[in-house]
Amino acid sequence: MSASAPGIASHARFVSLEGGEGAGKTTVLDALREALRAGGDEVVSTREPGGTPLAEQIRGLLLDPSHEPPSAEAELLLMFAARAQHVGETIRPALERGAWVLCDRFTDSSFAYQGGGRGLDPAWIADLERRVVGVRPGLTLLLDVDVARGRERTRGRGAGPDRIEAERDEFFERVRAAYRARAAADPARFRVIDAAMPAADVAAEAVRQLQAWRGGA
Ligand code: TMP
Repeated sequence: MSASAPGIASHARFVSLEGGEGAGKTTVLDALREALRAGGDEVVSTREPGGTPLAEQIRGLLLDPSHEPPSAEAELLLMFAARAQHVGETIRPALERGAWVLCDRFTDSSFAYQGGGRGLDPAWIADLERRVVGVRPGLTLLLDVDVARGRERTRGRGAGPDRIEAERDEFFERVRAAYRARAAADPARFRVIDAAMPAADVAAEAVRQLQAWRGGA
């Protein structure tokens, strides 16, 4: 591991996928997993919030619209509680045995949703990242799509919106702006993909970006 920021190690085999609602992460994840497995390496495909039994329970609490909404602070701390467990139980052990870790969302989601969306201080989030996470992906693919178009895609999906999906468009505009600002501030780690394209083209572009990054890493 090589240090990318004080107290945080960046790992070359750790890849995260980020984006707002309806960006098409599922199709992209499948394509990336297949591309990595084709190389014969072990690939651990996981997600946040979640990725361990306890963290999946925390996810259930976070997304359930039936109880009272958590405060922004409680939401952030629950995201990090799930993440701390996930890193310790799943991500670190996988990276240490040489596997690839492909993660559907990671700490950048907290900067975008709890920082950008809820307005919490990013310095606090950065402090939690240093103290309880300590690891960062080597590559982060950001699927960027217009809020209206992304929400259009999620409409009619399954059993109605979860607690966060039910937020207003202004919230998702702030999430998108925070993602884009993070990507612009760290071009060595981020690749921004135009997710307005058809799903198959987005997936093909994501695989191309992954292969290009592997070739140059
Ligand atoms: P998903 O539905 O894309 O799997 O993500 C679950 C929701 O959780 C999504 O609305 C984004 C949100 N989220 C945060 O607000 N902060 C976080 O740190 C993470 C990982 C997810």
